[in-house]
Amino acid sequence: MRSLDEFAGEKLAALERSQLRRTPVVTARQGIYAERCGRRLISFSCNDYLNLSQHPAVIKAAVEATQRYGVGAGASRLVTGNHPLYAELESRLARLKATEAACVFGSGYLANTGIIPALVGPHDLILADELSHACIHAGAKLSGAVLYRYHHGDVADAEALLAAHRAKHARALIVTDGVFSMDGDLAPLHDLSKLAQHFDTWLLADDAHGLGVVGGGRGSAFANGGSSVGAADVPLQMGTLSKAIGAYGGYLCASQAVVDLMRTRARTFIYSTGLPPPVIAAAIAAIEVIESQPAYAAEPLRKARLFARALNLPEPRSAIVPLILGETGAALTAAQALEEEGFLVVAIRPPTVPEGTARLRFAFTASHPDADIERLAGIVRSRVLRR
Ligand SMILES: Cc1ncc(COP(=O)(O)O)c(C=O)c1O
Repeated sequence: MRSLDEFAGEKLAALERSQLRRTPVVTARQGIYAERCGRRLISFSCNDYLNLSQHPAVIKAAVEATQRYGVGAGASRLVTGNHPLYAELESRLARLKATEAACVFGSGYLANTGIIPALVGPHDLILADELSHACIHAGAKLSGAVLYRYHHGDVADAEALLAAHRAKHARALIVTDGVFSMDGDLAPLHDLSKLAQHFDTWLLADDAHGLGVVGGGRGSAFANGGSSVGAADVPLQMGTLSKAIGAYGGYLCASQAVVDLMRTRARTFIYSTGLPPPVIAAAIAAIEVIESQPAYAAEPLRKARLFARALNLPEPRSAIVPLILGETGAALTAAQALEEEGFLVVAIRPPTVPEGTARLRFAFTASHPDADIERLAGIVRSRVLRR
């Protein structure tokens, strides 16, 4: 239809003018390398922090599950898609996170857009860190609850909002990334947990970038050293299987009652097909690696720190190191310069990050050789920071 194509064309032209048009680039990944447009680049833009998507034991588990159960789940989990591997994955996730139970969703995005509306509705209150991931904001919007965004990481601001508004709502929920996806910093989960308890408010932390990397691999609630003793009390530990786990899917670790509620009320759980058996088998095998090799799980953070030290950047607390450059054009030019030197570091632009904070986002993995990280830092110094 002409009006439809005109609408799309005008939108695209406007995005092009502001350098915000995006197009997927065909990328073949192999280990730390990404092949694009005939060039082999060392990638610092993959969230496969432990390189488990290509780990032999993980691949073997996926192949065997495909042979045994087929490629797809065939239906929603509440119909016939709940293949036997789900139970094992959910009990392993619950054990890792020290919760009574766990519930696996189709993706991290589907988890947040299912969990949040199943817990709060139009008469309730949500407080979200302003830099929380897009799917947290989407879940909050879908719920219809009254939403306030508190300043990033600012517990005092969250407290002021609760003091002003909590009493007007039956239920209230604080939602935050555990590790912030574009900044790499950690949410103040201990303080948020105390605040939540004081105001009879529930706390959800999205640990997409913490699992496998932070807290001995157990995630951001365990950032004090990986032990359950002294871990932050986070009753809703959400995350994804698509980053350090190397597979796909989302999860919620919580009490048995909350998990049972999700299984019967979360719309993205009910009305979406179960995950393919090989994906679930891969996630189980990946968790086995994380639990049995804590020294390996510590590597992405060590690599991130090596890079940050070489550039005098603040000490990272996760595998993600941002270099904020400001305008979109500056981030694109910097990414281009690194690509010319053989490195893939994708520029991150609004609306993924706030206006004026376009950046390079470096993601470190266990397999990045130290020598490549040092070379990368040298090139960033000379070609991006020009010092
Ligand atoms: C913090 C955070 N939450 C959720 C998601 C969504 O997870 P998934 O890719 O599994 O949909 C992402 C990934 O992009 C993320 O960074």
